[in-house]
Amino acid sequence: MIDQAERLRQLVRQSIHPLPPRSRAIAITSGKGGVGKTNIAANLATYLALQGQRTAILDGDLGLANVNIVLGVAAPYDIGHVVSGHKRLSEIAAPGPAGLQVFAGGSGLYDVANLSGQRLDSFLHDLVELDRICETLFIDTGAGLSEAVIRLVISAAEVIVVTTPEPTALTDAYGIIKVITRRNPATRVRLVVNMVQYEGEGQLVFNQFQGVVERFLQFRPHYLGEVPQDPMVTRAVREQKPFALAYPNSKAAKAIERLAANLMGWQAPTAGGIRGLFQRMLRNYR
Ligand SMILES: Nc1ncnc2c1ncn2[C@@H]1O[C@H](COP(=O)(O)OP(=O)(O)OP(=O)(O)O)[C@@H](O)[C@H]1O
Ligand SMILES: [Mg+2]
Repeated sequence: MIDQAERLRQLVRQSIHPLPPRSRAIAITSGKGGVGKTNIAANLATYLALQGQRTAILDGDLGLANVNIVLGVAAPYDIGHVVSGHKRLSEIAAPGPAGLQVFAGGSGLYDVANLSGQRLDSFLHDLVELDRICETLFIDTGAGLSEAVIRLVISAAEVIVVTTPEPTALTDAYGIIKVITRRNPATRVRLVVNMVQYEGEGQLVFNQFQGVVERFLQFRPHYLGEVPQDPMVTRAVREQKPFALAYPNSKAAKAIERLAANLMGWQAPTAGGIRGLFQRMLRNYR
C-alpha cells in the first residue's frame, strides 16, 4: 500500500523529473495588521497577469479573507471543498482580471495535511498541473505570529514582509523575520515599505532596519521597494477593483510596477515551486 510519505516522495520525484518546476510561490506577510498586505499581493498579482504572466493568488488569511473583495471576484469554493472531496483544485479557481487565478483558502487550507488516499492523489495531480500552467503564485496571509500563519509562511521559499515606516510596524516586522529565520533560515525575505510619505523614505527605513536585523539575527533581508500613501488605493478598494488595473497611472500602481520588476529580476530559488510549497505544508501541518 502506498502511504502518504511515499506519495510525497513521488511528488518530489515528479518535481525534479522530467522538467524542474519553474513556478514560484511567494508568501506575503507582516508583523502588524492592516499594513497593506492584501492590497500589495492582489495588485502585484494583477499587474503580472496584465503583463501576460500566468499568475495565481491564494488567499491564506483565515480571519478576514479579503483578496476576492479587493479584486472584485466571486470565489464560491475554497480549499475546504477540495479537502472534503467535493471539488478538484482545478475547479475552485475563480477567474480574476487578465486571467489571474484566484484561490480562496478558507479554514480548510490547514486540513490539506489530513488528505489521504484518492483525494491526496487528485490533489497532488492538480498541483503538478498548476505548477505547469502557473508561473507565480502569491499567497496572502494573515498578520502576526500565530502558529498557523508561521507554518504557511515558512512553507514558501520566498516571503515578502510588508511594513509601514511606523516604529510599531517595524518592531513587529522584526518579530516575524526573527521567527522565519529561526524556523526556516533558507527563506528569502524581502521587505516592502508601504504608505511612505515621500520618495526614498522606504530605502531609508530599510537601511536602518537591515542594520538591526543583521546585527541581532545574523540574517540579511533584501529590499523590494516602497509604495506611497495614495488615496487611489482606498478608492479602488471601495470600488472593488485592483488599482493596478483601474488606476494604472496612479503613484501606487507605478510603485507596484517597480516592485514587480525587482521581484522578477531576482532568480527564483529552486525550491520545488508550487508543488514544493504544498509539499512543505503537508509536512509542516502534520
Ligand atoms: N499605499 C496605500 N495608500 C493608501 N491606503 C492604503 C495603502 N495600502 C493600504 N491602504 C489601506 O489600508 C487598509 C489596509 O490594507 P490591507 O487590507 O491591504 O492591509 P492588510 O495588511 O492586508 O490587513 P490585514 O492585516 O487586516 O489583513 C485598506 O483600507 C487599504 O485601502
Ligand atoms: Mg489582508
